[in-house]
Amino acid sequence: MFADSHFQGRRVLITGGLGFIGSNLARRLVDLGAEVLLVDSLVPEHGGRPFNIADIRDRVTVELADVRDEQRMERLIRRQDYLFNLAGQTSHIDSMRFPQADLEMNCRAQLSVLEACRQHNPEVRIVFAGTRQIYGRPDYLPVDERHPVRPVDINGVNKMASEWYHLLYHRAFDMRTCALRLTNTIGPRMRVKDARQTFLGVCVRRLLEGVPFEVWDGGQRRDFTYVDDAVEAFLMTAASDEAVGRVFNVGGAAPISLRDLADLLVELNHGGEYLVRSYPPEYKRIDIGDYYSDFSLIRSTLGWEPRVPLRDGLARTLEFYREHLEHYL
Ligand SMILES: NC(=O)c1ccc[n+]([C@@H]2O[C@H](COP(=O)([O-])OP(=O)(O)OC[C@H]3O[C@@H](n4cnc5c(N)ncnc54)[C@H](O)[C@@H]3O)[C@@H](O)[C@H]2O)c1
Repeated sequence: MFADSHFQGRRVLITGGLGFIGSNLARRLVDLGAEVLLVDSLVPEHGGRPFNIADIRDRVTVELADVRDEQRMERLIRRQDYLFNLAGQTSHIDSMRFPQADLEMNCRAQLSVLEACRQHNPEVRIVFAGTRQIYGRPDYLPVDERHPVRPVDINGVNKMASEWYHLLYHRAFDMRTCALRLTNTIGPRMRVKDARQTFLGVCVRRLLEGVPFEVWDGGQRRDFTYVDDAVEAFLMTAASDEAVGRVFNVGGAAPISLRDLADLLVELNHGGEYLVRSYPPEYKRIDIGDYYSDFSLIRSTLGWEPRVPLRDGLARTLEFYREHLEHYL
């Protein structure tokens, strides 16, 4: 836990701050009284868009910049108390189609950020947005942090490397870094235009447009974190000295099969249809099958646990897109 005053007046930089999770984190931080600076290059295939911060635009500073721009980062990083490092490429299939681009965004960009911090603000507290994707196909469930990491796609390899850069900078340079391994995160402001960020996004879009969405296979069980819960995990981790140098899984309350998830979406929408298909081979190659997280480490260390039930999270998400879908197409 952290005191409500913890972030009051503190200077906070969020890379990827116009994206899905970054913009929700920004909204919470301005409410807590932080001075928030968002850095984002608005990569078209990613989840960032100015509309994500439309309601808080006059309460944050926005710098449209690529985090690989060393000179600008050098200037932006100085005097920050916290850095939430969320800039990144999320699409697994894009990483297989364009591996060099994923390397650039998920590895080189992260090293640039860390180097800017090391040289110009080594005291800054850094929380990195890592992913459960680095575990690959689980040997056992639920997956805890001791599970071997064995990524099945380029994105997983690069996100693993970027997590390790962060931990290395703690060990080698005594910097105050840590990482979260997020599972599927859902909620208002996620990318729904296509399945690049999460397959659930495009399902929500199709449902609201009144056309059938697709479920591949459907038997796989997954867990989901509502974005407000993910935001609390970032804040609790940043606020705790115990988190420095460590990695925590962030998961959902209970796993659900994708077919049950589809039924729940249809129920909450009071109608809709979906088609069950087998996986296209290109996707099957990088599928991880069943996955859900053991989040007992972050619960026992920091007191974090998911608070928003999946049903409520999905209902709030549908409500948001019923009102704002046009801004996300
Ligand atoms: N959404 C999830 O379910 C999920 C799950 C696991 C991990 N993560 C991680 O969380 C982070 C945030 O994810 P998100 O879902 O909000 O994605 P997002 O695509 O909505 O946000 C990422 C933002 O980073 C920006 N960006 C990318 N490269 C940049 C660069 N070089 N310089 C400046 N800005 C850059 C993009 O323009 C985008 O706005 C990512 O690092 C992602 O890997 C997300």
